Amino acid sequence: MKGKILLAGIVTTVMCMTTLGFVYADTNYTSGDLKNLQDFILGKETNDLNEKNYDLNADSRCDSFDVCMMRKEVTPSEDNGKILVAYYSLVLPGGTDASTSASRVIVDGKPYGTTEYMAKVIQEETGSDLFEIQTVEKYPENFSVLMSQAGKEQREGYRPELATHIENLDQYDTVFVGYPNWWDDMPMVMYSFFEEHDFAGKTIIPFNSHGGREFSQTIQEITELQPDAEVSTDGLTLARETVYTSRDVIAEWIADLGYQKNNEDDSPKK
Ligand SMILES: Cc1cc2nc3c(=O)[nH]c(=O)nc-3n(C[C@H](O)[C@H](O)[C@H](O)COP(=O)(O)O)c2cc1C
Repeated sequence: MKGKILLAGIVTTVMCMTTLGFVYADTNYTSGDLKNLQDFILGKETNDLNEKNYDLNADSRCDSFDVCMMRKEVTPSEDNGKILVAYYSLVLPGGTDASTSASRVIVDGKPYGTTEYMAKVIQEETGSDLFEIQTVEKYPENFSVLMSQAGKEQREGYRPELATHIENLDQYDTVFVGYPNWWDDMPMVMYSFFEEHDFAGKTIIPFNSHGGREFSQTIQEITELQPDAEVSTDGLTLARETVYTSRDVIAEWIADLGYQKNNEDDSPKK
């Protein structure tokens, strides 16, 4: 709604500028000029467009193409409603087992689980909230012990107790849900998670990291656990050893889904 008002403001502004003779093929008004005029027309503060040249497609004209490009910049991704990124990830200490070393991503000296790193990038790309799913009981750090415990939990249909709970789930329309592949399935804590929270009417977009088995049948599982949610079949699955170098892949996936936040500044993302 806000975006529509803003767009209407921009269109009105451009029409006014045209009518008043402000727009000439050889005149480059900045978006700052436009913002001032728009603030005046709408009678309130609008987004700061950072003094960009209003001729956004650089064809020496200020026309409807520029308006379309500007709409992309100033309209937040509110069409998708409020977004949450919820994830489970286990950061294992380095050196316990050679095969787990690729399960960690070190950024600025801080170790992330691979799913955790994916969640971080998704959160940054979408401008959403971040939620970490945690268990009350901590898992063993030894890889082989962890493997056998996880296998046992799965065979027994165990439900680990959740230490974290989503507050105000109602406010979110879309929830990106991330988890590693454990024994060709989701970790059992994800079952606790999906059984505690009701995603009816919301869109769930799954993402995961894995050691070779991608999503396995987990999308199907989520669909069964949340029959009243729309579970996207366009989830992103990444092999754990590729996660570290996959920021662009994740960003492209977000953009393809139409969830990329609109930057109101050009500051580079970390
Ligand atoms: C208990 C356990 C079981 C796993 N089982 C599988 C599996 O069946 N298939 C697979 O592709 N990867 C499997 N993996 C590898 C993880 O999916 C992979 O390391 C993932 O990136 C870990 O994500 P995280 O760092 O966010 O915890 C398993 C890892 C663990 C710890």
